[in-house]
Amino acid sequence: MKIIRTENYLEMSVTAGRLLAEKIRSNPSMTLGLATGSTPKGLYEYLIQDHRDNGTSYQQIQSVNLDEYVGLPAQDPNSYHYFMWKNLFDHIDIAGESTHIPNGAAEDLEQECTRYDQLIKEIGGVDLQILGIGQNGHIGFNEPGTPFSSRTHIVTLAENTREANSRFFNSMEEVPKHAITMGITSILESKEIFLLASGEQKAEALSKLLNGEISEAFPASALKQHQNVTIIADKNALKYI
Ligand code: GLP
Repeated sequence: MKIIRTENYLEMSVTAGRLLAEKIRSNPSMTLGLATGSTPKGLYEYLIQDHRDNGTSYQQIQSVNLDEYVGLPAQDPNSYHYFMWKNLFDHIDIAGESTHIPNGAAEDLEQECTRYDQLIKEIGGVDLQILGIGQNGHIGFNEPGTPFSSRTHIVTLAENTREANSRFFNSMEEVPKHAITMGITSILESKEIFLLASGEQKAEALSKLLNGEISEAFPASALKQHQNVTIIADKNALKYI
């Protein structure tokens, strides 16, 4: 795994943004795998600014998001649908029908998982996947113990993940208990991966990822089996490396 160490969050975001915008300009019909959370927000801000300043176009881009909470409709401000429109899609020229996010409000969730896997296949797979990392090593919403063989599936969120994400909700009770997420195999099938991390709260996770063994107990360790992963992280997140 290649590591790019940056001074701080802004430099991490700009570095990832420059690399990504360059890839989009040289392959304007690529499929982007997108993530939510606080980590990629600065990257999305960079892409919006770059779209305005340099005209990088998303008209032929397809996007596939990693995950969504179960039970939250798209218009709920805490849904990842809402997050993606507010923080990126509303500000670039991507076509709405080219953006794909699992539907956490689907009546038949098993069928939604199958539909999502099929869709990723039909659009030819993900060219570049953006990832954040949870403090317990989760990627997407693949919590510790998720089989590496998994594709899109329903998960029960770990209590520490619900706690970490409760900062966005009014109370702990409002944090959904389940989510729908692309699986580890789905993630590993993308041609290239950027893993972003910032801040001391991610330092232990990065240390386990880089120094620990490959194990389903630590989902991000599966990334060591991929040939084209770049970690873009600030010095606080890399303080044990
Ligand atoms: C969330 C998301 C992940 C994200 C991670 C870290 O639960 N499902 O895709 O990478 O947790 O979030 P943050 O970037 O806010 O630290």
